[in-house]
Amino acid sequence: FADDLTGGERKQVDNVAHRGAAGYAPENTIAGFDLAVDMKADYIEIDVQKSKDGELVVIHDTTVDRTTDGTGKVGDLTLKQLKSLDAGSWKDEKFAGEPIPTFEEILDRYYGKVGILIELKAPQLYPGIEEQVAEALKKRNLDKPQNEKIIIQSFNFKSMKKMNKLLPEVPIGVLTSNHTDTTTEALQEFSTYADWFNPNYGNVSKELVNQVHSLDMQIGSWTVRSQEAADLLFEMEVDAIISDYPDYVDPRN
Ligand code: G3P
Ligand code: CA
Repeated sequence: FADDLTGGERKQVDNVAHRGAAGYAPENTIAGFDLAVDMKADYIEIDVQKSKDGELVVIHDTTVDRTTDGTGKVGDLTLKQLKSLDAGSWKDEKFAGEPIPTFEEILDRYYGKVGILIELKAPQLYPGIEEQVAEALKKRNLDKPQNEKIIIQSFNFKSMKKMNKLLPEVPIGVLTSNHTDTTTEALQEFSTYADWFNPNYGNVSKELVNQVHSLDMQIGSWTVRSQEAADLLFEMEVDAIISDYPDYVDPRN
């Protein structure tokens, strides 16, 4: 707990490092995730997709064009091809050669050290990705959330309903960016399978926070890229702040 600007007590909020500490290091790379751990984030947020030969890989866009020195769709490239790409230089030359991590590499490196907020990115492009993610977690006993902080989220609601069936003990999040997904009816439907409701921060109000809590869900909001946005979300008493800059969310600052 930390003092807020009015001198009162500030609620404990999970500090989620969006795609790693993406403001400071190349997104979805070990360099970024390690930095997030050093910055005392509670969770790292990762985007999971699938290679042509069926390996789960951690990258945000559905093409490699923006964040690597290659071109093409993630799903059209083999793991070997994806691994040969430089996912660091675009951010800064000091990160040259940072590879695209696999999902299993991330689980093995970070579980027990930091929470992992796993986003299934465009799961409709990758049939069977839910089962594959579930298997990787089960293999490591990470389907028992009492031991580890694992959350699975997506903008694809159907995929999250399926994930909830596959891993009933793992918290599920729905990501939304439309006002139409914040109606009472929509929230009630989400609460039948989700534990987290995660809207973009422009859609958050104190009323929405209360409504989400009254349905026994928690609320995490994204993507915070300014101290003002972080402070606003603290004031509205969200449960998690998903930020490119973990220091904006750190109560010690
Ligand atoms: O965790 C929330 C956030 O990651 C959703 O948007 O586009 O950054 O994956 P995006
Ligand atoms: Ca994401």
